[in-house]
Amino acid sequence: MKIADTIIELYQSKGSGAYFGEGVTETEHALQSAHLAEKSGADQETIVAALLHDIGHLLHNLPEDIAEQGIDGRHEEGGAAWLLNYFPNSVVDPIRLHVAAKRYLCAVEEGYFEKLSPASQQSLRLQGGPFSREEIDEFEKEPFWRTALALRHWDDTAKLVGWSVPGLEHYRSHLQEVLDRQEKG
Ligand SMILES: [Fe+2]
Ligand SMILES: [Fe+2]
Repeated sequence: MKIADTIIELYQSKGSGAYFGEGVTETEHALQSAHLAEKSGADQETIVAALLHDIGHLLHNLPEDIAEQGIDGRHEEGGAAWLLNYFPNSVVDPIRLHVAAKRYLCAVEEGYFEKLSPASQQSLRLQGGPFSREEIDEFEKEPFWRTALALRHWDDTAKLVGWSVPGLEHYRSHLQEVLDRQEKG
């Protein structure tokens, strides 16, 4: 099966679980994130990164409410490790960094923590809390750190109950074109 088909099927078959602590499903959250990226004029790789940023939640069989149980599933690492088999760093790095981006923004952006949802505030602690000065400097050395910050803001917004956005089918060509470019590169 083509990888784009595998991914779409994964969201169709496993994405109907709740995005933990929020009123939307995993697939709704992914679609809203991707739509926010596309609306803001992001390039195709970034749109795909937004769509797939939480794929780590779907790849393992951990319970959806894992953060409430005081466990950090490190979904950003699991997702990035799998995606690296198929996608370029411009897709994989912002995904790998999207939790780090929250820790970064909590350290540098006034009022950012207060705007996070309660579930996201709760998971921050498990993820290591706001970055230290040293961690901020390390983060800013990442080639795709700015994309990771943009992704983080879409991620934080993409929890809108009842917001109707384009469906999975809309992203098949985006996925395929990014994959095709990678195979040529
Ligand atoms: Fe996430
Ligand atoms: Fe997310």
